[in-house]
Amino acid sequence: MRGGPTQYSEKVMEHFKNPRNVGEIENPDGVGQVGNPVCGDIMELYLRVKDGIITEAKFKTFGCGAAIATSSMVTEMVKGKSVEEALKISNRAVAEALGGLPPVKMHCSVLAEEALKSALDDYLSKSKGKLPGEKVKSK
Ligand code: FES
Repeated sequence: MRGGPTQYSEKVMEHFKNPRNVGEIENPDGVGQVGNPVCGDIMELYLRVKDGIITEAKFKTFGCGAAIATSSMVTEMVKGKSVEEALKISNRAVAEALGGLPPVKMHCSVLAEEALKSALDDYLSKSKGKLPGEKVKSK
């Protein structure tokens, strides 16, 4: 057999076996849920945002190994980034950070990008009209 049973990089396997940031954030500032039309897998992503900076990210993914590894990586990548910077993270960047994905598994990384964008959209729609640092109420 050529190439062994799996063509996943070591990093993908490592994030699959020890995913970072699994779970939910209570009262998140942004939450996104997307489904992959190709395989039916589902990813949920939760964000905590303070003054325009993502301080926490968690995920729940019901999907394949590549989907879990990309979710894990994307939650690591967004932490400490501004919302604007996070909006620029592409599925390719996530796959590259994992040392690449087999071509047939690239669609799984699209799920991670879409879950992130959907959580950021949710944050932006909730925070509309509120400037970072603006006081909500003054007594
Ligand atoms: Fe469904 Fe990978 S096969 S996300």
